[in-house]
Amino acid sequence: MQVVSISSLKGGVGKTSVTTGLASAALAAGIPTLVVDLDPHADASTALGVSPDDQLDIGRMLRSPRRAHLADNVVPSGWVEHARINGRANGNANRTRQSGAATSVLDVAVGSAYTGIYDRPDLGRRDLRRLSTVLAGATNYELVLVDCPPSLNGLTRMAWSASDKVTLVAEPGLFSVAGTERTMRAIQLFRQEFAPNLSPAGIVANRVRSGSAEHTFRLSEMESMFGQLLLSPHIPEQANWQQIQGAAHSIHHWPGDSAKNAAGLFDALLQNLLHPNGVAPAGTVRNRSLR
Ligand SMILES: Nc1ncnc2c1ncn2[C@@H]1O[C@H](COP(=O)(O)OP(=O)(O)OP(=O)(O)O)[C@@H](O)[C@H]1O
Ligand SMILES: [Mg+2]
Repeated sequence: MQVVSISSLKGGVGKTSVTTGLASAALAAGIPTLVVDLDPHADASTALGVSPDDQLDIGRMLRSPRRAHLADNVVPSGWVEHARINGRANGNANRTRQSGAATSVLDVAVGSAYTGIYDRPDLGRRDLRRLSTVLAGATNYELVLVDCPPSLNGLTRMAWSASDKVTLVAEPGLFSVAGTERTMRAIQLFRQEFAPNLSPAGIVANRVRSGSAEHTFRLSEMESMFGQLLLSPHIPEQANWQQIQGAAHSIHHWPGDSAKNAAGLFDALLQNLLHPNGVAPAGTVRNRSLR
């Protein structure tokens, strides 16, 4: 199992959008995935179309991590049902069953304002381990994506403590690039003090406008600053992104060429994130037929 945090110092750069894009790619690839919505605003839970019943949200699980019983409290994303319906509508029922889509797993540890009590700058070592303790019960997943709030306070640091990798999201603009550099330094310091095995998985450039001279300049600046840590592909500004998120749909199940193109970019990004040297262990990409 790989635990990947999606973080940034700056707000609104696309952490939740990248988290959900990667989750969509993981669902399409048949990779059993859990999204942990650690942002008190719970945007990822909204976008993933969850309808909690009497499950505990992640804030309440963090309060008593040893008694959290993660498996009993995760909620399946509404996207799983869309994937089934889509598969049937496309006449893929048999193929889908054979390739494992009928048992595809995309669960959510649902966000809530309650997590806010941990978003303090002075969170102690014991509190930083709360998410790791909750995730000790995450035995059914190959991938855990943690959507972080836009700060380097307690919640983001708690996510880093529980993670193997941190992915940063940045828009190609001056303040965002500067914020990314500061966050990189914070990760290095955090590794030394708390998490020697944590590695920066890289930086996703989001909302890239291909015709913008400023974006072209900032992207080349990011390339020279961060080298191979700048992940490819970059994610372009997508005109219908808010509409897709508002409908609580996955990019892989939204009609039209632009969504199909964006879905392909997230497929490639997921592969590059999970297998930076280009080698996927045998059997990890299972389920191309869902698209
Ligand atoms: N590639 C994109 N193309 C178009 N719109 C985008 C793109 N990425 C993000 N957005 C939009 O930008 C806004 C901010 O995105 P998002 O919520 O993912 O950022 P965030 O970093 O998670 O924000 P916060 O810091 O508040 O958690 C949203 O309205 C989202 O729909
Ligand atoms: Mg967000």
